[in-house]
Amino acid sequence: MRIAALVALLAAVLPSALGVPAHQLPLAAPLAPAPAPPVWPAEEGVGHFSEWSKAQKRQFVTDVVAGKADEWVLVMGNEGGDLDSMTAALTWAYHLSHNNEAGNRTIALLQTPRDALDLRPENKLALRNVLMSPGHRDLLTIDELPVPPRELAKQIKGIVLVDHPAPLSDWEEAKVEAIFDHHLDRGAAPDARPRIFEPVASCTTIVARQMLDELEARKEGEYHVPHEVVELILDAIAIDSKGLTNSQPADKFTAERLLRRSNWRDEKLYTVMARLDDELSAAKKALDELGVRDLLRRDWKGDLVKTADGTPDVHVGFASVPLSLEDQVERTLYNTTDAWFGVLDGFSNEIGVDVTISLHSYKSKRHEDGHPKGGDVLRSKKIKVREMVLAVRPTDNVSDAQATQLFDLVSKTLEESPFLDAERWADYKSLKPRQMIWVHHSPNGGRKLVRPIVESAIAGWKDSLAA
Ligand SMILES: *[C@@H]1O[C@H](CO)[C@@H](O)[C@H](O)[C@H]1NC(C)=O
Ligand SMILES: *[C@@H]1O[C@H](CO)[C@@H](O)[C@H](O)[C@H]1NC(C)=O
Ligand SMILES: *[C@@H]1O[C@H](CO)[C@@H](O)[C@H](O)[C@H]1NC(C)=O
Repeated sequence: MRIAALVALLAAVLPSALGVPAHQLPLAAPLAPAPAPPVWPAEEGVGHFSEWSKAQKRQFVTDVVAGKADEWVLVMGNEGGDLDSMTAALTWAYHLSHNNEAGNRTIALLQTPRDALDLRPENKLALRNVLMSPGHRDLLTIDELPVPPRELAKQIKGIVLVDHPAPLSDWEEAKVEAIFDHHLDRGAAPDARPRIFEPVASCTTIVARQMLDELEARKEGEYHVPHEVVELILDAIAIDSKGLTNSQPADKFTAERLLRRSNWRDEKLYTVMARLDDELSAAKKALDELGVRDLLRRDWKGDLVKTADGTPDVHVGFASVPLSLEDQVERTLYNTTDAWFGVLDGFSNEIGVDVTISLHSYKSKRHEDGHPKGGDVLRSKKIKVREMVLAVRPTDNVSDAQATQLFDLVSKTLEESPFLDAERWADYKSLKPRQMIWVHHSPNGGRKLVRPIVESAIAGWKDSLAA
C-alpha cells in the first residue's frame, strides 16, 4: 500500500523534477542504477565528484520509492543555499558515504528549489569549476524529493545539519544525528554527535576539519578525496573569510591542510585564497540582470514560528539583498516604492508568508554630507548602509487585526533593539499600513542578527483581542 502510494507520487513528481518525459519513466524497480563506487577508482578525472553525486541521487530516489528510505541520512544546509551551506552539505555527505560501509546511504539535500540555484552566480561558477553537471542534475534539491519533506522526515534514518542551527519545521520529526554550525546555538538536538557550534568565518571549515581529522585517523588508510572536493571547500572558505582576511585561526589552519591536497599545493595559501575570493566575489556581485522577485528569492530564509496557544503559528520570511531599496525600485515597472512592495507582496503570497522582512545592505558615499569634519580620507571611504523592510499581510490563518498586531509587535521590537539602533526611513509616512522601512549601520547587523530578534518576539506574541 505504502509502496504503491509512493510509486504513484513519484510518477507524478519525477517527470518534471528530473526532466524525464513521463512515458519514458518506468513505474517501479527498473529505475535502479548501478551503485556508487565505494571508493574513487582512480586519480583525477573529469567530473568524478559529479558522478558520485549523481549516483547517490539515483540510489536515494530508488530507495525512497522502494520504501527503503529508512537507511538514509540527509545532510542539509540552510534554505538560503549559499556556497557555504551547499559545500558543507556536499562535503559531509561525501565523507560519511566513504568513511564507513554503513554510511554509504548519505546524501546532501539542498533546501533550495533547483531553479533558485542559478540565482547565485558564485555557486554556479564554483560548481562549474569542480566539473559538476550544468543545470545541477547531480544535486538533490528540495523540490525534487519524491515525497514531501514532512513525510520523508518520518521515514529516514536521520538528518545532519550544517550551517544551520535547528531543523526547519518540515523536518522536525526527523532525528538530528549531528550539527555543525557557526550561527547562534538555539539548543536544538542536544544529543546530536558531533554537535559543534563555533564562530568561524565559514561553516565549511568546521565540517572540513572534522573530515580531515577522521580521514587521517583511518586505520585502513585514507579513502580518495578528489581534488574537486578539496577545491570546492577552499572556494567556500575563501568567499566567507574574504580570502582569509576576515577569519578565525581555524579557517586558516583548515585551508592550509586542504591546500596541500589541492592542485594548487605549490602556491602560497594567501595568494590562492585571495584569488578564489576575487573570482567568486566578482561573480556574486553580478546581479544586474535579476529582477526584484529573483533578488528576493535568491537568498531567502523562512519558517513557521510557533506561538502561544490561542494565536496562529506565523510563517516568517527573510530576504537578504546586497542592493539598496532605491536600486531595486529602479527595477520595477513603475520605478516606485509602491511597485516594489507589490512584488514583495506577490512573492510572500506565492509562498504563504505572513511576516516578510527584506534586509538590504550596500555601500554608500552619501555620509559625506553628514560628516562635515571628515577629511579627504573619510570622504572617499564608503560606509555600509543597511535597510530593513517589514511588511505584514493578513492570510487565511492570520486575521486583519492579528496582522496589525504582529506588525506593531515586530516594528516595536526592531525599533527598540539596542543592537540595531535603527531609524525610520526618511519618507516612511508615504508607506501603506503594515509597511515600514528602517535604516541602520550596525556592523554585522544582517540576518544572523535580525532573525533571532524577530523570531523570538513573534514566538512570544499574545493576541490582545483574544479572550
Ligand atoms: C553499502 O553498504 C552495504 C553494507 O555494507 C553494502 O551491502 C552495499 O552494497 C553498499 N552500497 C553501496 C551503494 O555502496
Ligand atoms: C527612478 O526614479 C528616480 C527618482 O524618482 C530617478 O532618479 C531615476 O532616474 C529613475 N530611474 C529610472 C530607471 O527610471
Ligand atoms: C494555516 O495553519 C495550518 C495549521 O497550522 C497550516 O496547516 C496551514 O498551512 C496554514 N495555512 C496558511 C495559508 O498558512
